[in-house]
Amino acid sequence: MISFAPQKTAAALAFDSLAAGYDDVFTNSSVGRAQRSAVWECAQNIFTPRCRLLELNCGTGEDAIHFAQQGFEVTSCDVSPAMIAQARRKALQVPAGDNIRFYVQASESIADLPARYPFAGAFSNFSGLNCVKDLDGLASSLASMLLPGSPALFCFSTRYCLWETAWYLLHADLSRGSRRWNGYHETRLGGITLPVYYPTREQIRHSFAHKFRLVGVYGIGITVPPSYVEPWIAEHPGLLRTLQKIDAAIRRLPVINTLGDHMLLHLERLHT
Ligand SMILES: C[S@@+](CC[C@H](N)C(=O)[O-])C[C@H]1O[C@@H](n2cnc3c(N)ncnc32)[C@H](O)[C@@H]1O
Repeated sequence: MISFAPQKTAAALAFDSLAAGYDDVFTNSSVGRAQRSAVWECAQNIFTPRCRLLELNCGTGEDAIHFAQQGFEVTSCDVSPAMIAQARRKALQVPAGDNIRFYVQASESIADLPARYPFAGAFSNFSGLNCVKDLDGLASSLASMLLPGSPALFCFSTRYCLWETAWYLLHADLSRGSRRWNGYHETRLGGITLPVYYPTREQIRHSFAHKFRLVGVYGIGITVPPSYVEPWIAEHPGLLRTLQKIDAAIRRLPVINTLGDHMLLHLERLHT
């Protein structure tokens, strides 16, 4: 009998091509570290310690390893087999890495995950959910996998990013500076065209409202710049530290919290 490997989606093909260099380009950059540490600070006050956590769009597993080392039992998924391969390789090399189960699984079909339910928290970092068109469907699937009252922390790219607009205006490139404003943009990654969605805070709240309530929003990368500013900001580590402190002070302010590079939404699974 002939068996066929399942066809890869555009997202899988696109992110496969980034996987080998992703940690060098983003995870280990000064901007990447600054933005991720802000997400971790917010997360530590929200998830019940050492609970069973479901991670979507895990990439190379940086957050999975962080949570596993905090004592969480982590199940991490990503559509890209090459990202999952990187994540598994890293997890093998660190203490508590064996507290993580990795799966190649698209967020759109997360309810098919062959893992132990229910989870007591859900997490997605750095824009994987901007690749998902049907957030209402995702909300229904996740609701069936989470205990009532469970927190979900989702970090989306924002619709309007002050840094991005200012940076590209400075470089006389309004087309890049405004690429998110329509709520949809086709990007090219590894020769693949990938649709990326930029829902507003209100659109996300609405998509999840039948199963989740929005508890809070934290701005990530408000004065800390986006990753393409890395070559410049890496030369100014003192300034980056100052910007991190400013972000920490202002990240909960209404409106401001949606104008950074990312926004971290804290949702809670309803009891009904
Ligand atoms: C910008 S990376 C972020 C990775 C990781 N969460 C981090 O914080 O470094 C986005 C990730 O989302 C994954 N992704 C994109 N679309 C997806 C989908 N539809 N289902 C599951 N994963 C997806 C990509 O493969 C990629 O690993």
